[in-house]
Formats: sequence, structure tokens, C-alpha cells
Amino acid sequence: MAEPEEYRPGLEGVIAAETAISYLDVAHEEIVVRGYNLIDLAEHVSYLDVVHLLWYGRLPSAAESARWAAEIAAARLDTERIVPLIDQLGPGLHMMDWLRTAVSVLGTWDPDVGQEDAAHVWAQGRRLVGSLPAVLAQGYRRRQLLPVIPSDPARPYAANFLHMMTGREPSAAEARAFDQLLIAYSEHEMPNSTFAARVISSTLADLYGALTGAVASLKGRLHGGANEAVMRMLLEVGDPARMRAYLEDRLARKERIMGFGHRVYMRQPDPRAMLMKQVLAELAGPAGRQDLYELCVAGEEAMYALKGLYPNLDYYAAPVYYLLGVPIELYTPIFFVARVAGLVAHVQEQYAHNRLFRPRVRYTGPRGLRVGP
Ligand code: SDX
Repeated sequence: MAEPEEYRPGLEGVIAAETAISYLDVAHEEIVVRGYNLIDLAEHVSYLDVVHLLWYGRLPSAAESARWAAEIAAARLDTERIVPLIDQLGPGLHMMDWLRTAVSVLGTWDPDVGQEDAAHVWAQGRRLVGSLPAVLAQGYRRRQLLPVIPSDPARPYAANFLHMMTGREPSAAEARAFDQLLIAYSEHEMPNSTFAARVISSTLADLYGALTGAVASLKGRLHGGANEAVMRMLLEVGDPARMRAYLEDRLARKERIMGFGHRVYMRQPDPRAMLMKQVLAELAGPAGRQDLYELCVAGEEAMYALKGLYPNLDYYAAPVYYLLGVPIELYTPIFFVARVAGLVAHVQEQYAHNRLFRPRVRYTGPRGLRVGP
């Protein structure tokens, strides 16, 4: 056994896996997903096409794309059985904890749970991608005592998801914006939640267990929980003229400003944030909310001036969700639902090329203590 190597806090800069799924090419400001640029995918194909690419390694043809969407629509587990379970859960339930619970329960019903070969993993993935929008949207509305909106398999995936959450008929532009949001969140190399899923699946634990760990990680405000906090901050500040002083005050108190900074994009913008900034600009005009766009730009400019930090995806995704009418407590859960695409691909790759994750430690505690004489 080789002696432990150097210690890197937070595994910063450490390569934890070899993967053919995605890579953050920071030098070229490109998020590579199975050979494509994620931003290019968001501008030209659908979220379900990206799911197909992540799992099968290629984009579907136009004919295959329609069949694929129908397959996902038909792959749903019995969400009518699971949604009422939310009534049993505690007061003040966070919707990420609903998802964490629901994923665990869904795993007990999936006939293929525990199977590690690609075909069975993709079958489980199809059921998750097909079921989670309804599980999230219908669970939320049942909890809020709002009318539950049934899934409509005739609607395109993103439009159906958005409609189930808001009860509003999305315009084509709104449905497209939401589909691009799902793509932006679909896959991002090795964030904490993906690493959690790979660590868990490296013991050959089942897919649902790996995803349960991932959703627990993603709830953390240093990770997925940031988008919800961004929107609350934007609503609190309200006026672009107040933004700089607000940020200065919080930074003076050594607070972290959600939606800014990134472990990998240290000193440059997150390409996904720039995509969502453009989507926000396109939605804000027709919605009569140019003020919201200007508020966000004021925050971006102030954070760069004050701290040299750029926005990450969550910063501009939050106001896009807001203009689409999505309830704020669903922002992070949607992040997880969209990221299931990449998570399933990573778990399958871990099963196929597995080496149990078992790192060592640098021990700083006492030695030589004795209980007996
Ligand atoms: C996501 O990994 C992924 O890819 C994640 C993700 C994905 O798609 O899966 O991209 C999604 O999680 C995006 C990140 C969302 N989280 C937030 O927006 C939370 C706020 N951001 C930070 O807490 C922070 O930027 C992290 C956690 C994202 C990254 O932190 P690091 O790499 O550990 O950097 P650090 O804490 O060492 O900070 C370096 C310096 C420090 O300054 P000094 O103390 O040295 O003077 O930058 C400062 C930090 O104080 N800093 C911030 C800051 N982020 C870093 N200061 C204020 N506000 C911030 N947001």
C-alpha cells in the first residue's frame, strides 16, 4: 500500500475520476458534454435530446427524438401512489426533502432497482426522468392545498413540467426558456452532488441510493440551494440603486453572496450564467420586467467591482424561474430533477469502470494513550 499522497482540502484541483461524459474546459470557457458545447446544445436541441446524448453517447435523429419523448412520457412510475405520501411528512417540509424522500420510495417500486448493467440503469433513469416532474409539481401543489394538475403526456416535456407547477399555459417562448434552463442544469462534470453519487455507487449501492445522496448534497446553500437564496436577495433589494450598498454591507460582514463565485470558474464567468442572462433579457421585455433585468446587472457589476467575482448559473437562473411563475421553493428541486440526466450517466459509468472510493487521512489527533496501566 503506497503511503498517502499530499492533502488537498475539499479535494480542490484533484482529478477524482476519468469520464467521457463532460469536462469544464475553463481555458476555452467551454462546458464539453459528450463532445458538444453545452451552450450550443441549449441553443439547438431539447432537454430530452440532451438526456439521450448523456446516456447513449449521441443525439437522437428528428424521428428518434419524437419516439424518445414518447418513451419518457410512458416510463412514469405510479406517481398517483406517491404524491399522497407528502401528507405524512413533517411541518415546514423543504421540497428538497420531499424529493429526497420520494426518490427513496420510488426506488422501492422500481422493478430494476439494484441492476447495474447499462440497459437496466437506463430503464431506471427513464422512469426517474419521466416521474420526477409530476412528483415534484403535484407534491408541491398538494402541500399548498392547490388543485393538483395532472401530467399531460401530449405536451412537450418542459411545457408539461412548467404547466404542472404553475397551472399557467406557458407561451412557446416561456416553454423554450424553461427547456434551456433544464439543459443548463443537466450536467456539469464533478460537482459535490455528482461526486456523492459516484462515491456511493462505487460500493455498488443501487442507483436510487446514489441519487438520494446527491439530492441531500444539492440542498446545501453552497451548492444547489443558492438559486432560491438569490431570488430572495433580489426581492429584498428591489432597486438597482440600492444594490451596491446592500452588497458592500453584507461583504463587510464577511457574508457569502449566493449566486457568485465557483470552485472551477474562479476568475471568469460561468458560461451557463451568460446564457441565462440572455434568456432573462429575452423574457424581461415582453413581461414588462426590464427593471428585474437591470437589478440583476447592477448586482453582477457591483460584485465584480467589490470582490472580482462573477455570477454562476444560479444567479441568472433564479430571475428566469421567477418570470416563468415558478414558486421560489421549487428552484433547487428543479435543479435536481434536471441534473438526474447527468447523475444517471455518472452512476452507470461508475458501475462500468469501478474502483471503490476509499481515500486516506492526515491524522492530527493524539497518539500513545493507554486505557490500562
Ligand atoms: C453550483 O461545482 C459545480 O459545478 C456546482 C454547480 C453545478 O452545476 O453543479 O455549478 C452549481 O453549486 C454553483 C455554486 C452555487 N453556490 C453559490 O452561489 C454559493 C456562493 N458561492 C460560494 O460560497 C463559493 O463561491 C463556492 C462555494 C461556490 C466556491 O467556493 P470555493 O471554491 O471554496 O472558494 P472559497 O470559499 O475558497 O473562496 C475564495 C475567496 C474567499 O475570499 P477570501 O476569504 O480568500 O478573501 O472568494 C470569496 C471567499 O470569501 N468568495 C466569496 C464568494 N465566493 C467566494 N465571497 C463572497 N461571496 C461569494 N459568493
